[in-house]
Amino acid sequence: MNRILALVLILTQSSIMQDLRITYQPKQMEARRVVQDEGIPYEFYGGAKGGGKSKYTRNIEMERRLRYAGTSGVIIRKTFPELMSNHVRKFWTEFPFTYDWYNKSEKTIYYPNGSVTDFRYLKKTTDVYNYQGIEYDDISMDEATQHEEEVFKILKTSLRQAPEIIDRYPDFRPSFRLTGNPGGIGHAWVKRIFVDRDFKQGEHPEDYRFIQARVDDNPIFLRANPQYKRNLEDLPEELRKAYLEGDWNIFAGQYFKKLRREKHLVPPIRIPDDWMHWRSLDWGYGHPSVVLWWAANPNTGDIFIYRYYKEKEVVASKMARRVAELTNSDENILTTVAGHDCWAKITSDDTRTERTLADIINNNGLPIEKAIIDRISGWMNLRELLEWDEKRKAPQLKIFDTCEEVYTDLACLVHDEKHPEDVLKMDGDDTGDSARYGGMYHSEARKEGHQMTEIEQYINEITSDKEDWDTY
Ligand SMILES: Nc1ncnc2c1ncn2[C@@H]1O[C@H](COP(=O)(O)OP(=O)(O)OP(=O)(O)O)[C@@H](O)[C@H]1O
Ligand SMILES: [Mg+2]
Repeated sequence: MNRILALVLILTQSSIMQDLRITYQPKQMEARRVVQDEGIPYEFYGGAKGGGKSKYTRNIEMERRLRYAGTSGVIIRKTFPELMSNHVRKFWTEFPFTYDWYNKSEKTIYYPNGSVTDFRYLKKTTDVYNYQGIEYDDISMDEATQHEEEVFKILKTSLRQAPEIIDRYPDFRPSFRLTGNPGGIGHAWVKRIFVDRDFKQGEHPEDYRFIQARVDDNPIFLRANPQYKRNLEDLPEELRKAYLEGDWNIFAGQYFKKLRREKHLVPPIRIPDDWMHWRSLDWGYGHPSVVLWWAANPNTGDIFIYRYYKEKEVVASKMARRVAELTNSDENILTTVAGHDCWAKITSDDTRTERTLADIINNNGLPIEKAIIDRISGWMNLRELLEWDEKRKAPQLKIFDTCEEVYTDLACLVHDEKHPEDVLKMDGDDTGDSARYGGMYHSEARKEGHQMTEIEQYINEITSDKEDWDTY
């Protein structure tokens, strides 16, 4: 085989009384160029198993701390044991001189040239707030797909350079490097930004780069461990595609695996007034409130999610009024089913009266009733509705393509590893919860032959005279 296996970078270092030899394989070298030569601030390296991600993370951290005296970097993993076995101990074996420079209680390497490398773990998303305000020239987030996007957003604010470093090294650019495999709670945001390059306002496409590396890009390792690739090849098809081929469209932990844009997203149709209409609400303030509008064809049973509302940090009264405004008077909404947290008691300080969020929501034009909230049966039911139906040549539940975010949110839900039948509770599951409530409402209504309950009749009456409750 006539392939370059590795490029060895030799840095002359007085601090270690010898030349430092850092071995980069070609793909790692390509990633290094993005950081060192092009100065791209956000780089995602890897995207498949065994591509040399963690090693690349250590190499470039080591090189940059020694090359640029007085600079700082941090290497982040999800848990302390992962941090120790994947990085700290590896630093000691690969660069033995760092053992003496390592401060165990601080989990920091202090280099003789004044540079530092911190090793940190973020078990919970909120742990990231402990590091807010700390300044780093380099941030390495190994296994970024284990973290929520909030972690990335907050850490971004720590990526900055002190003026004296800029003066000393005018060509040295700060770098935020991420690595990871498909799957995990961070799958969706990593895929959006680095794989799909589907940027939001305020994100500059030129700041982000994805260097894909698979196990074949790690020939040093494969030469020593040829069975590793065979193990990846033997995985079940979806995992194999994700881990071996680096296919991000396969989502290892995805809950609704059969969701397909071309099947579940449909162009809007005109919905006749006499179809059954209902809404579902998952309330949130710090997390978004999500309301879905549903309609079912009474003859065929086809169901459509035809509108959605998703917004956070909006108080309950305003949210309710907004949802009412978005609903046309001829829609004849039977009911709005909501999570039971809306019925928790809140006490108003000034009047000392007890009331619930449901009271506020009801009084602002959005009459709600309690949804069926059993998680497992709710998810199972939603899965049934989304299942491909040969007779229909379509799934029973379809989503208007004007509600693409609903589709994306559902596609991002992952199994809870501890309770595989359940969805993992995480940021971004609000649409899923709302869809679960709405789906259960339909299934129960069908079971009961769709006899209108008293509350439905009442709501039906008042919704047909919307003026009254708009001004409530
Ligand atoms: N440049 C290199 N020089 C020597 N060994 C390397 C190099 N790059 C990777 N390796 C070795 O290949 C093996 C796998 O690399 P690494 O752990 O970095 O992969 P990974 O992509 O992080 O894997 P995983 O997906 O399991 O996290 C390790 O033993 C590592 O030391
Ligand atoms: Mg790794």
